Amino acid sequence: MIDKRLFQLVEKKSLVLLILFRVISLGLMIILWFVFAQQLTNYLNGQSIDWLFLVGTVLLVLIGKSVLTKLMEKQTYKASAELRLSMRRAVMSKAFRLGNNEGQLPASTLTQLAVDGIEQLEIYYARFLPQLFYCLVASLMIFLSLVGFAWVPAVVLLICMPMIPVVIMAVMKIAKRILSGYWSDYTNLGTKFHENLSGFSILKAYDQDKYKQEEIATDAERFRKATMSLLSMQLNSITIMDIISYSGAALGIGIALIEFTGGTISTTGILMFLLLSAEFFIPMRQLGSLFHVAMNGISACSRLFSYLELPEQVYGKDKLEKALEKINVHDLSYTYDKEKTAALQGVSASFQQGTFSALVGKSGSGKSTFARVLLHQLSGYEGELVWNDVRLTDLSGEAIRRQGVLVDNHGYLYADSIRANLLIGNQQASEADLWRVLEKVCLADFVRNLPEQLAETLQEDGSNLSGGQRQRLILARAMLREAELYIFDEITSGVDLESEKIILEVLQDLAREKMVLFISHRLYNVLDADQVLVFEAGKLVEVGAPEQLQRDSNYFKNYFLEEAKLLKGGA
Ligand SMILES: Nc1ncnc2c1ncn2[C@@H]1O[C@H](COP(=O)(O)OP(=O)(O)OP(=O)(O)O)[C@@H](O)[C@H]1O
Ligand SMILES: [Mg+2]
Repeated sequence: MIDKRLFQLVEKKSLVLLILFRVISLGLMIILWFVFAQQLTNYLNGQSIDWLFLVGTVLLVLIGKSVLTKLMEKQTYKASAELRLSMRRAVMSKAFRLGNNEGQLPASTLTQLAVDGIEQLEIYYARFLPQLFYCLVASLMIFLSLVGFAWVPAVVLLICMPMIPVVIMAVMKIAKRILSGYWSDYTNLGTKFHENLSGFSILKAYDQDKYKQEEIATDAERFRKATMSLLSMQLNSITIMDIISYSGAALGIGIALIEFTGGTISTTGILMFLLLSAEFFIPMRQLGSLFHVAMNGISACSRLFSYLELPEQVYGKDKLEKALEKINVHDLSYTYDKEKTAALQGVSASFQQGTFSALVGKSGSGKSTFARVLLHQLSGYEGELVWNDVRLTDLSGEAIRRQGVLVDNHGYLYADSIRANLLIGNQQASEADLWRVLEKVCLADFVRNLPEQLAETLQEDGSNLSGGQRQRLILARAMLREAELYIFDEITSGVDLESEKIILEVLQDLAREKMVLFISHRLYNVLDADQVLVFEAGKLVEVGAPEQLQRDSNYFKNYFLEEAKLLKGGA
């Protein structure tokens, strides 16, 4: 019920203080009831009431309790703020550490987890947990203050009390069935909603919006029903807990009254029983009513921790002594987690500084996987992979990112100025550097003609640019990075011929000094490459200069002819 992992992330101090304040507050109440019972006994015995003492105690207790209430409020706020802050920090830094490595969650699920999930967890942590500990201490305190007067009814009360946790456990068993899928249903619903909104124009274009609307309405209805059955179960269990509390209290008081008539309990004693019996069950009952809300927190908690505990890429500590000049790959294999067949099998290749290597092959042949393994974005490869003379697994993450850049067609542009988007590539770049790269990708004139030039703000993901402009801007950003290894994964797919030509020229130019790997489906794009690597079902089937492959390789020739035919057919 209590996840110990929570306490590794948040300080226990606030929680302990919170419980302590509540215990002191209960202690004050017990003192007040005791003084009250004593004075009433005096009165019933015909003695005079010590008004000064009584009023003084009432005032002191009232002041003490109101101070404690303030402190408790503050402490609850502090505990929940601490929890939210440290959990959100943990989730966000995990998200950054994972980057686009395996296990990363889609943005919508991550947002839901970091916002809603942590809110739910907060109820569990700052309200349910203090109540749980307080409950145990409070029951013991009340028992101890009653047992001195008459042990039988005190023990009866103490025995009745565990009935409430028993009911809670029983309810929990039933609730577990409902709750096991509750949180994931909730996040799935959110993800679906987000997805439908993102793809709204597609749904509308294909006339599928009605169908999706109905689908989401059905899901929402199912979720509503699950929520309702949860709430009704909560109400029912509160009723049962009420019955136990009041019958327990009645039983305790009844036995105490019988003892009173038998003369084995003092008047103060019976008054204390009357005043404290109900109090005995209140903390447990409050715990019960918080339980179902907290269950949601527990399930969010396990989701949060399974995210936080996702294995992370392990990097080495080494740096490269000098700039990256060569990469040697020998007998490299890679299998994705939970997949049976290897995405790469026994690949051997080498890449040099100042060369242009093209990676070709049919869809699903392993090109992108190879690119990601080369940059250590996927962990657990087999075989040898060496940058200069250092094994990739020995290199630090920073060294890898400093020297190698992967540009694919998912590159993101922020809703910020063109300048800010470019500077992501290199914060130290000067204005002249920015114009130089824009010139290279033939965007300088376009930017110069914008009203605000470099300060012009882009729309989200550069949606106010054309596909070609967008891709060229992403290329310019990568060039600012001044890395040594550039891998371009299908950056020319879906762009106009003019942009494609510009991009290819830039890449050829870049390959004079840097190591460029270019993944493409179009063979006519790779005719100027220094070497072409042909992938087929995870294997590297052919390597060679394009002219040589055109001459000697059936596979390449056929593929090339096929493409030429397709292009002709399309034209
Ligand atoms: N995240 C993943 N989890 C499991 N399997 C994957 C994952 N990504 C790719 N694969 C599988 O690995 C194989 C190689 O995929 P990869 O993306 O490397 O191909 P590709 O050559 O880049 O294809 P394309 O030209 O279509 O981009 C495919 O069979 C694919 O289904
Ligand atoms: Mg690919």
